[in-house]
Amino acid sequence: MEKILELKNLKTYYSTDNGIAKAVDGVSFSLGRNRTLGIVGESGCGKSVTALSLMRLVPMPPGYFAGGEIFWKGRDLLKLSEEEMRHLRGNEIAMIFQEPMSSLNPVFTCGSQIMEQILIHRDLNHAEAKKRSVELLHLVGIPNPAERFSSYPHELSGGMRQRVMIAMALSCNPELLIADEPTTALDVTVQAQILDLIGKLQSDNAMSVMLITHDFGVVAELCEEVLVMYASRVVETGSVQQLFNNPLHPYTRGLLHSIPRLGSSKERLHVIEGNVPSAVNLPEGCRFAGRCPEADAHCRQEQPELVVYEAGHEAACWKVGSHRGFL
Ligand SMILES: Nc1ncnc2c1ncn2[C@@H]1O[C@H](COP(=O)(O)OP(=O)(O)OP(=O)(O)O)[C@@H](O)[C@H]1O
Ligand SMILES: [Mg+2]
Repeated sequence: MEKILELKNLKTYYSTDNGIAKAVDGVSFSLGRNRTLGIVGESGCGKSVTALSLMRLVPMPPGYFAGGEIFWKGRDLLKLSEEEMRHLRGNEIAMIFQEPMSSLNPVFTCGSQIMEQILIHRDLNHAEAKKRSVELLHLVGIPNPAERFSSYPHELSGGMRQRVMIAMALSCNPELLIADEPTTALDVTVQAQILDLIGKLQSDNAMSVMLITHDFGVVAELCEEVLVMYASRVVETGSVQQLFNNPLHPYTRGLLHSIPRLGSSKERLHVIEGNVPSAVNLPEGCRFAGRCPEADAHCRQEQPELVVYEAGHEAACWKVGSHRGFL
């Protein structure tokens, strides 16, 4: 499998008044061309900062890269100039965010915002760019796209605005689409439609997709592979089948038990007690030890690294796989 993206021991930190916030702290993973990866974990685990890091959109200062590498098709992104990065962001990697209203400019029509993207990144004239914009609105399932071209963001529903954002992201045929919680602001039916749309666009356009979510259900729907993050690190990774059938890390098991019951809105079956440790004050040993039903003294002292449990399936837990030998 061709690796399109590879993170190696990435560390993205922020200087804050309370100390150094280790938002991403030694994260490694790779993504194949045309593959879909879900990144899950509770709030504050470092999902968004991981995505922003590889877009090189972390505000600096207060943020800075404290170590590691990000290879995009073999080039280390951290070594590219701002100009090279700008080119890459428009043409090769695109990102959609949770709240489309904050990413769309309220004073311009949706169509003109898509057109602007196209004109910046592609060699098309005004009329061709407009035609392409209407095609994109159609592609993302907006009814009457020629009329909707002239709508302002506030004239559209949340789901329609998210479709406009997706159209903008797709305007340059990216090879990787990063979707950071693209559906959490939407109601359940619209969520399902947007996920279907992303899945369809992924297979039609042979893109890689990185989907960030709190929700394992969403991952099961759309992704082939999963990365579970906890307290700025990866605690488990594998195929969706591997993680669902045989979750190795106690945190993954906790999250899987927290999938909302179908039809019961937000009711949780079981929620892991306690909170994610603060990124400015991370514990010394396993970062999950404080909430882990299986933790012992060793877990609290020494941090486990990811170890291979079976092909493609890794976990960072002292109770898993070859780590057991150390106990
Ligand atoms: N600008 C910043 N300054 C200081 N710390 C930050 C900044 N941005 C993020 N962090 C810290 O980095 C950590 C990871 O944040 P991140 O936004 O990546 O979490 P997340 O997993 O995306 O959470 P959520 O699910 O809520 O979106 C958090 O502890 C957060 O407080
Ligand atoms: Mg986030």
